[in-house]
Amino acid sequence: MRIDIISCVPNLLDSPFSHSILQRANDKSLSEVHVHDLRKYAVNKHGHIDDYAYGHGAGMVIMCEPIFNCIEDLKKEREYQEVIYMTPDGEVFNQQIANHLSITCENIIILCGHYKGIDQRVRDELVTREISIGDYVLSGGELAAAVVADAIIRLLPGVLGDETSALTDSFQDGLLAPPVYTRPKEWKGKEVPSILLSGHESKIDEWRLEESMERTKERRPDLWDKYLDAHPEIKKKKKK
Ligand code: 6GU
Repeated sequence: MRIDIISCVPNLLDSPFSHSILQRANDKSLSEVHVHDLRKYAVNKHGHIDDYAYGHGAGMVIMCEPIFNCIEDLKKEREYQEVIYMTPDGEVFNQQIANHLSITCENIIILCGHYKGIDQRVRDELVTREISIGDYVLSGGELAAAVVADAIIRLLPGVLGDETSALTDSFQDGLLAPPVYTRPKEWKGKEVPSILLSGHESKIDEWRLEESMERTKERRPDLWDKYLDAHPEIKKKKKK
């Protein structure tokens, strides 16, 4: 998969793709992330890419032309399945969207906004999907773009080993992940749950599922309600 990120502060994206799992995905040619500096596409003589918003009050808005030209250049080279605009008024990102994008896309453009956003006409004309990473405001879309790219790339086949398989992630089955433990068996008088030392695989799986359900019920009643709706047999059992 190839991800092209368009930004007016490209340096903000130097680090996230240069370490750990995302770097390895890149080294193994499973993913390619390219960051493009929108300022290189400035069209006026001052090198500006933004201008005052029409109507009083509102701040600066990124202009249509630099964005259009940058995206057109990329589209000349390859076909893109999605042009995603990162914006706090977009659809709230979740694991389902990450799964979907990672399965259906070969090439993705992610456009980062800044200031008061980008001209609405570019959104209407070029953007296929608008994504937010939660109900709070960031100073720009770069960190949000890194979040979305990370969530997608780690799902690509071969990026994670069996050990870290995405199948056991929180949210992948609609539940939060269960607690985990490592050595030593006893630390400050606290013991690792004995079931985990039993070697009894099916009992351990059962315990993990039970812990996942408890954790989800307690911490995320919203997810728990959805889970129960999807698993009527559990709903019945728990009622008893
Ligand atoms: Cl995608 N951008 C900005 N600026 N703020 C956000 C966001 C995106 N998602 C949540 N807050």
